[in-house]
Amino acid sequence: MRKPVIAGNWKMYKLVSEAVSLVLELKPLVANANHCEVVVAPPYTSLRSVADRLEGSGIKVAGQNLCESAEFGARTGEVNGAMLRDAGCEWVIIGHSERREFSSENDALVNAKLKAAMKTGLRPIVCVGERLEEREAGRAEEVVRSQVTGSLGSLTPDEAMPIVVAYEPVWAIGTGRTATPEIAQSMHASIRRFLMEQFGNKTADLMRILYGGSVKPDNIKALMAQRDIDGALVGGASLDARSFAQIVNYPG
Ligand code: PGA
Repeated sequence: MRKPVIAGNWKMYKLVSEAVSLVLELKPLVANANHCEVVVAPPYTSLRSVADRLEGSGIKVAGQNLCESAEFGARTGEVNGAMLRDAGCEWVIIGHSERREFSSENDALVNAKLKAAMKTGLRPIVCVGERLEEREAGRAEEVVRSQVTGSLGSLTPDEAMPIVVAYEPVWAIGTGRTATPEIAQSMHASIRRFLMEQFGNKTADLMRILYGGSVKPDNIKALMAQRDIDGALVGGASLDARSFAQIVNYPG
């Protein structure tokens, strides 16, 4: 049984006061959501304030990125896993397409960040997904396969099992253009096959694969009805407490 994960990626939105208002509004709206794990990923500046307000609730906090070094040191502008834990995070998003694009993160760096996250006991959500031109060239599967094998390289099945993979086709992020449930399911099934090749059937069967890219209250149910979709990574719609709560409460 794979317990779904619904995670909200706030990206570079929300001042501290706005972040606090958002989670205070969200908390009661998802208080009965025992069918899934609920995660929010505020920017670094709001992590501690949000974590304090969520203490004792079922909602967990994630960082949106971390440094690939698990040590303390002279790395201006970086934040390591221990600092994220200290700020109240249990989870961390790694290798989001916006970081791959704007901060030149490649699979090797994503893999190093993943190992740093695991070393500090953070639960990773590793993002993969093809660009529009790659899909149009018929290369979507090949691109995602190399991202999965590269990003999750040199791990044992036991290490891989708790890792959450998020499939986010770049052309569907923030565009209002969701992959149809069928397109998403087909890639999720392929990702599970890649994970099987890498870690074996038993592990791949237990690993959760989230869909991300214009997930909204009106499409979550159809996406979650697909057999290999185990949750969602939500950007825009997670910035509003009511719409994120509707997504979390998709079975109801
Ligand atoms: P979106 O973003 O829901 O706004 O498309 C998803 C993401 O980038 O994680």
